Amino acid sequence: MHTHNRRTFMLGATATAAALGLAACGGEGAGSGGPDPEAEPSEQTVGVAMPTQTYERWVADGNNIKEGLEGKGFTVDMQYAGDDIPTQQQQIDQMINSGVSALLIASIDGASLSSQLDAAAAAGIPVIAYDRLLTDNENVDFYVTFDNYTVGVNQANALLYGLGLLDEDFEEAEDAPEGPLNVELFAGSLDDNNAHLFWQGAIDTLQPYFDDGTLEVLSGQMDIDQAATQRWEQETAQKRMETLLTTHYGSGEELAGVLAPADPLSRGIINALQNRGMGPTIEEGLPVVTGQDAEIASIKLIADGVQHSTIFKDTRNLAEQAIVASESILNGEEPEANDTETYDNGMKVVPSYLLDVQMVLQDNYQETMVDSGYYSEEQVESGQL
Ligand code: BGC
Repeated sequence: MHTHNRRTFMLGATATAAALGLAACGGEGAGSGGPDPEAEPSEQTVGVAMPTQTYERWVADGNNIKEGLEGKGFTVDMQYAGDDIPTQQQQIDQMINSGVSALLIASIDGASLSSQLDAAAAAGIPVIAYDRLLTDNENVDFYVTFDNYTVGVNQANALLYGLGLLDEDFEEAEDAPEGPLNVELFAGSLDDNNAHLFWQGAIDTLQPYFDDGTLEVLSGQMDIDQAATQRWEQETAQKRMETLLTTHYGSGEELAGVLAPADPLSRGIINALQNRGMGPTIEEGLPVVTGQDAEIASIKLIADGVQHSTIFKDTRNLAEQAIVASESILNGEEPEANDTETYDNGMKVVPSYLLDVQMVLQDNYQETMVDSGYYSEEQVESGQL
């Protein structure tokens, strides 16, 4: 049920594995990696591999992790890979060669780091997967993430609420429109295990409405492969939305809503819709568009009645959890899990710590995002950090 992508990058990976095998074997003593509970914290370096800086959240994640680990006295080697798989492989190779004590990895493609994970294991370096599951390899010690399936459920519920099919208690609305209402569906990058969980949670929630004809996908593109957005790129989503509009919504067909899995994609989709003369606000006829990550630009759009919803995942808490898990591992202890069943990576069920998520709408953005102190009033007004 918890699908993940089985595609691997074997050709590129084999040569690296051979090189690393040597490094790892010769690495006993000085320069060899892995935790040393006897050592001073500053002598323990945590290698932190991050995917990209184009999404706001990964910048925040990185800053929080670095600050938190350094606050505990550990040394941090943090690298961003610009969403390029070979770059991330090289960065991790280097961390292993330099003898880090532990690795914290937010992958680009969860199945592409097998030779790195094997080399880490050979050098005694424990690996924590950060937010995105590392798949198809048994050398993954722990996983910290959010409840990703629930993200998808919440995205679908927000869509149903925006379409008037659910009321504010998320029960069947009494005055629900009969439909059929047209929606289009977007998914994330197929090589990111999360994308499959978001999708599954959303589709399971929407399926009864497809089955009874309340919702329709005019394009017929209802498979994740058709809905996917490679590398989570905004422009790709915007282009696909433009094509869907010209191909399927030419002659008076009305689009009521779009399932979008992340805020940058939501904004690309909204651009495409507005460029076709829809909206500019939901009140003025813009379709209901969902989101994820509570990026500041999207919170402003929600406040302005343009984007309908997002999902807030407090990455401060995720970084905190990653630090707690790293500390346990560096002290030679097992990190505390709260889920030991959900995250089968194809080779093993990875013990995980899952955090809660929160739906954000125009009705509650003030409370969830401003009163909570996450963003200031000024930031929401300007749409900038
Ligand atoms: C994360 C999302 C993010 C997406 C694109 C996913 O793995 O869980 O928060 O929007 O990647 O970066």
